[in-house]
Parts: sequence; structure tokens; C-alpha cells
Amino acid sequence: MEAVKELLDKSKQQFLDELLELLRIPSVSADPKHKPDVARAAEYVKKKLIDAGADKVEVFPTKGHPIVYGEKIIDEKLPTIVVYGHYDVQPADPINLWTSPPFEPVIKDEKIYARGSCDDKGQVYMHIKAFDLMMKTKTLPCNVKFMVEGEEEVGSANLGDFVKANKDKLKGSVILISDTSMIANDIPSIDVGLRGLSYVEVEVTGPNRDLHSGVYGGAVANPLNILCKMIADMKDENNHITIPNFYDDVQELSQAERDEMAKAPFSLEAYKKDLDIKEILGETGYSTLERTSIRPTLDVNGIWGGYIGEGSKTVLPSKASAKISMRLVPNQSSEKITALFKNYFEKFAPPYVKVKVTAHHGGEPVVTPTDSIAFKASSMAMEKTFGKKPIPTRSGGSIPIVALFEKELGMKSVLMGFGLDSDNIHSPDEHYGIFNYMKGIETIPYFFKYFTELSSSTKV
Ligand code: BES
Ligand code: MN
Ligand code: MN
Repeated sequence: MEAVKELLDKSKQQFLDELLELLRIPSVSADPKHKPDVARAAEYVKKKLIDAGADKVEVFPTKGHPIVYGEKIIDEKLPTIVVYGHYDVQPADPINLWTSPPFEPVIKDEKIYARGSCDDKGQVYMHIKAFDLMMKTKTLPCNVKFMVEGEEEVGSANLGDFVKANKDKLKGSVILISDTSMIANDIPSIDVGLRGLSYVEVEVTGPNRDLHSGVYGGAVANPLNILCKMIADMKDENNHITIPNFYDDVQELSQAERDEMAKAPFSLEAYKKDLDIKEILGETGYSTLERTSIRPTLDVNGIWGGYIGEGSKTVLPSKASAKISMRLVPNQSSEKITALFKNYFEKFAPPYVKVKVTAHHGGEPVVTPTDSIAFKASSMAMEKTFGKKPIPTRSGGSIPIVALFEKELGMKSVLMGFGLDSDNIHSPDEHYGIFNYMKGIETIPYFFKYFTELSSSTKV
């Protein structure tokens, strides 16, 4: 392992340069205009996997964006670690709020600023470089397979089909993912849970055309006002979601489990200061950490209608729309929650408007085991490189494919992420610490080592 560390230190500048090159490719999966860029990012990942020594490296086309696959099988009898990540990124908008252009990465205060630097190009690239180092130092202890997709940020719509069609190819012992965050650079943690997602779009229609807000205003329902009220009514005074049966399948944690969660370091003062808010708001009876991990949510992600141009226009709009996300927790089902929402919204719409609910992509919540070899190996790896045992935490974000891997491949995932919640993922000025990037590359080979050792010692 010393050889790995030595070569890593020597390669720092080169490894940074290579990541910056990947970050210059605007692989925004949501925007059809960037399709060629997404394809270019896939080719870059392919080339780097080949350079590092992977075999059977291929870019698999899908109905959407391609999936890059590569592997190194050194011995069929040894365990196989399947590394999953995504090379696509979220749109950079609003671009004018970025301090430097999102696809012209800069290093400032020991951090790499660019869209995708943390989510997830920086974290995926750590795995490619860790593999590269293990190959060069001849220390790869087991088999590895890479599956790097280009549609995570748009719901992994085509990865499911790929997984179903390639079950043999993807066979392995565990899935290793770095696409989450830890508590702080000196407080390592490992995610053991992710929330699921239901995402819907609603449209509320009032009169058959836009109207003069003076001539008709006061006598005809304004769909924007109605939509706002319908949304507001979906939470009660305790910030409890009012959709009937919404909480039916929510798994309540025992007091012991909640006490354990509460041990994770958290400063409410620092949290408020970071976000520049005077007060927090959430469901009564739960802590901030609980509200963002073990409790479901309902939030408007975007709302529009009427006039939003310069100056004022007096208009009573015909239509209003909103995009709404619901984060789900075990054992809620995204299909069931989407149906509950749709029924509720349609049923409770007042008679003076028509409503339409369209379901977007969703995903199931997951908890990953803490008593597995894989968790133990990741814990040992982080303890080795951080000098501190990582704390198991549950995250509020979603990686819907994790539940699908379990269902289709019968494989569990380990969420060993190296980002920070303050890295501004999905937001202007996204960044990733050089410390985190280097630490990740250093830690991954230890995961490989410990996982291989633990796997062989538990075999009879
Ligand atoms: N990497 C994130 C998820 C994440 C971030 C998990 C931080 C835990 C901590 C992932 O790329 C993501 O953004 N997922 C989407 C879901 C998807 C269906 C669009 C999300 O959570 O909004
Ligand atoms: Mn991600
Ligand atoms: Mn993301």
C-alpha cells in the first residue's frame, strides 16, 4: 500500500489535470443540445479506463445516453467489486450566479470549482485513478467491473434495461458507489440509507384564455392563486403532509435508533449560518438530521404561470404549473405515493379549475446493511486513511438505481462518498476539495484490500 500512496503523491498534478479535462465537457444529460457532449464524456471515461488497464471497455448505447463498461478479471475465484457512478451532470443554470464559468474549472482555496466536480465526475474519477494506481503497483487484490452511466441526473431511465439485459456481465460481490457526502473532512461517515423519490408535474387551468386582471379579476378563479393554496394546504400546522395515507408505510425508527442517529455531530447554529437563515422549518417532533433522512417530504421545485417578464403586465393567467418532489423513506413505494398524490390533487381541486397531474421518474428508498463485510471493509478503509472510524449516517438524497441493483442483481451497495453537503451540488459554484479527491483515491484501494481479505476469511 505504500507503493500506492507514493505513486499517488507523485501523480497528484496529473490526476488533477485529467479530472479538469473531464469537467470541461458539459455533459448535461437533461438538455438534448448537449447530447454530443454527453457522448464525448463517455468516450473520455472509456479512454481513461483503457489507459488504466481495464479490459472489454465498451460504450454501450441506450435509448438515451450511453453506459461505459470496463472490467479487470484477475481470478474468477476472487471477489468482484462493481463500481457504479455517473459522468452526466445537472444543468448549470442559473449561470449568472456562478463566480467562474461552470465548465471552465478553476482551483481556488484548494477546491475544484466546476459543475460535476463533486457530483459525480470527481468522485467517479477517483475510482478510475485508484484502479490505475493498483494496476501500476500490481496491488489489485480482486476483480473489478466499472459501470459508469450518463443518465443518473435524469432518473437512470435506461440503466434498468441495461442491468436486466446484462445480469451475467454485471455479476459481482458488491456495488461500490462514491456519489454521496460525509459529515466533514475530519468527521468521516458512510451513508447507509438513501431516500426514494416521487416527482410529479401539475397543471391547473382556469378560464380558457388569459384575461385582463381588472376586467375579470375578482370574479374568476386565478389558477395561480388556486395552485398556491392547494400546495399550501398539503401541509398542516405541524408541517405534516396532509395527503391521506401518505405516511401509511413510513417505517418509524425505534427510540434507540433515533438516539444513535442523534450522536452524529451537528451544529444547528453553523447550519443556519451557512444557509443565512434565521430559523429552520420542518416537521414537528423531529430533528434536522431526521427531517432530512428518515422522514418524507413534499416540496415545490419550480412554479410558473402568468407574466414573469420585465416590468408589469396586468393579466389573470389561464394556466399555472408546478413541479413537485416527494422524498420517500422505507417502506414507501414511489408508485403508490405518486398515485396517492394524483388522486388527492384531482379530488381536492375546487370546481372552478381543471387539474392535470403528470408523473415523472421516481425511485425507491434504500437502507444498506451495517453488518456486512462490505460495510466493514469501507469502515476499515476510511478509518485507515482518516485516522477515525466513520459514522454511519442516512442521507436525504436519492440514487434510485441502488434499489434496482438489489432487486435485479441481488447485490447490495456500499455508499462510500467523499463529498460534503456544502459542496453546492446541483447549485451554482459547485466544488470539490482537492483533499477529498486525493483522500478518495487513497481510501479506495484499502476498500479493495480489506474487502478481499474479509471475503476470504469468512469463506469456509
Ligand atoms: N449524488 C446525488 C444524490 C446524493 C447526493 C445522495 C448527496 C446523497 C447525498 C445524485 O446525483 C442525485 O442528485 N440524485 C437525484 C435523483 C435523481 C433521480 C434525479 C436527487 O437526489 O435529486
Ligand atoms: Mn450524483
Ligand atoms: Mn446529482
